[in-house]
Amino acid sequence: SGGDQGILGRKVPGQTGLMVLGASVPESFTVPLAIPPVLRPVQTVGRTDHYELTVRAALQEIVPGLETPIWGYNGEFPGPLIESQRGRRVVIHTRNELPAPVSTHLHGGRTPAADDGYPTDLLLPAQGWEHGHEHSGAISHGERDYTYPLDQRAALLWYHDHRMDFTGPQVWRGLAAMHIHRDDEEAALGLPTGEYELPLMVTDRSFGRDGRFLYPSRDPELVSPPGVLPDFANGVLGDVLLVNGVPAPFHPVSRGVYRLRIVNASNARHYRFELVPAPPGREPFLLIGSDGGLLAAPVELRSFALAPSERADVLVDFSSFSAGENVVLRNRYGDEHCSDVLQFRVGSELGPSYSTPPVLSHLERLDESQAVRTRTFHFARRNQHDGALWPIGGHLFDPDHIAAAPALGDTEIWQLSSDLRHPFHIHHVPFQVLDIPGVDTYGWKDTLALGLRGSARVIIRFDGYRGKYTFHCHTYEHEDMGMMANYAIT
Ligand code: C2O
Ligand code: CU
Repeated sequence: SGGDQGILGRKVPGQTGLMVLGASVPESFTVPLAIPPVLRPVQTVGRTDHYELTVRAALQEIVPGLETPIWGYNGEFPGPLIESQRGRRVVIHTRNELPAPVSTHLHGGRTPAADDGYPTDLLLPAQGWEHGHEHSGAISHGERDYTYPLDQRAALLWYHDHRMDFTGPQVWRGLAAMHIHRDDEEAALGLPTGEYELPLMVTDRSFGRDGRFLYPSRDPELVSPPGVLPDFANGVLGDVLLVNGVPAPFHPVSRGVYRLRIVNASNARHYRFELVPAPPGREPFLLIGSDGGLLAAPVELRSFALAPSERADVLVDFSSFSAGENVVLRNRYGDEHCSDVLQFRVGSELGPSYSTPPVLSHLERLDESQAVRTRTFHFARRNQHDGALWPIGGHLFDPDHIAAAPALGDTEIWQLSSDLRHPFHIHHVPFQVLDIPGVDTYGWKDTLALGLRGSARVIIRFDGYRGKYTFHCHTYEHEDMGMMANYAIT
């Protein structure tokens, strides 16, 4: 059926996913950008900051004039921004007032396994949930603490739902937010800050006539056990791009240097960002950081790509534009609906300038000779009579199966291959990419888009905490349909 009822997806040529076409597509650049509110600690004890977060349903005006029912951290999409400092522990007391279980994962966090948001470690609803058919994880009833040591480099992290089999629909409803982690090394660079540092969460969604989020499911309550969903091909795409939950917004800037901290929080959509018009006589972007924080040295770029869950930290100098000019951050991978991301309206005031040092960070480079073994994993579709399943190395996700068990401190090479584009993501331990020319400039990563370049080798040091963690495809509809596995640090 068409319109905004029933199963909504249809394939659009040139796209790699299932495109959900909605009825409400607002005009680009008519709504101002919003910056998520910064969450304040409720209490600070020694070196620990305590926060409170309630996961709940709310109504939010996203498309002008319509109210969208969302699920959000503190009832907001995106949820509140958390800012942390290396050396200070963060404890988030979380209460679940949704009608469904959740599991919150701090993406990019180096977190002990019990607080990592394992897919079956469910936080059940505070009220009205019949316990019984959950998988055998650590179950909490109504509320729990998530404790994050955050003894790690400064980086843009983000947090999102990770409930087994339901991550795609639950994040689509709004369970995603940013977390900026800082440290002294980064502070010493004196990078643009305050209104000159913009956290930008990019997602795509589709909206029905009444403002509802549309997600292709046969069940309005989003019950999606493996096997009953329509064939998601390569994930679910929306036809409206949102930045911080605002459809293709505009933002006034002064003629100075801005630091854009971008996370691709989309379920399945890949982006390639460019600036139109480009500034005269130079590349528009200076890439200074990626998933795992600062690069060793800045890289000038005409454009950059982000797979789902990847982050970019870029400087843009608006002083090379004239007052009154409109400069658009565009997505070059999109179809015609999905190229407008964000419009900067350049004002006449001068903003701060910034001269980037040639060395940003003293990055340790992992060396192949340190690796004690090589493992191979193949990410590829398996066809079924009623759709596709997405195994890794032939195995669908099983919470009890351990695919790799490195000893604490081991360095390994993982050889990764895929049939299509799959953003490989591993929890807890960042990696570096081997073999891809030039990519040593891209620093510490936690996600890598497979399938664009054939196979890839990454080098991983399994330090941190012992325990069971996941790695998976970060296309949520693949993850929900099996493309996830466990490793355990022993
Ligand atoms: Cu953002 Cu397990 O993922
Ligand atoms: Cu995938």
